[in-house]
Amino acid sequence: MKRQINPFDYAGDICKALPKGILLTTKRGEEINSMTIGWGTMGVDWSLPMFIVYVRESRYTKQLLEENGEFTINVPMGEVDKNILSICGTKSGRDMNKIEELGLHLEEPMSVSVPGIKELPLTLECKVLYKQQQDLSAIPQKILDRYYPVEDDTLHPGSDRDYHICYYGQILKAYIIED
Ligand SMILES: Cc1cc2nc3c(=O)[nH]c(=O)nc-3n(C[C@H](O)[C@H](O)[C@H](O)COP(=O)(O)O)c2cc1C
Repeated sequence: MKRQINPFDYAGDICKALPKGILLTTKRGEEINSMTIGWGTMGVDWSLPMFIVYVRESRYTKQLLEENGEFTINVPMGEVDKNILSICGTKSGRDMNKIEELGLHLEEPMSVSVPGIKELPLTLECKVLYKQQQDLSAIPQKILDRYYPVEDDTLHPGSDRDYHICYYGQILKAYIIED
């Protein structure tokens, strides 16, 4: 069962959950994939409620988002099995089916093709309205050095020149999955 909510009533909960990790779930055909995200922005753009995600070029999630510009945001409420955020944040959907491996329970969506996840019940259904590749010339050097090291690939393996794309998802529905 879903209890529909005003997403902005939960903006604080969502933003506080982000540093520990929430999930970004995508779907292509019958394939469903979740990845952990620690960055996200919630607000209003073009007078529409929006959730922006920041996805590196190398993520499998990027491929799915490019092919089906719909996603759900899945936020824990209370305790969550840390293994979920850990596996979804370190393993790629290219190599395994994370949903099956973790035994996650899916919730039928209302307005998009991508399901919610019962274990992370606070759900935003989003449709990509706009995307933006980062303008590297506008990023402060300190941040370039920290997050996009060109010479030194040891601190953040695989992040060398692996920039983020911002996907602006219009929030179409927001709800909490309840039993
Ligand atoms: C706490 C945490 C936060 C993360 N935040 C992001 C993020 O905001 N953007 C991103 O591109 N990757 C982020 N990652 C890394 C992805 O979750 C990770 O590379 C994942 O394996 C990608 O899965 P995929 O290849 O199935 O898309 C984060 C990982 C963790 C553990």
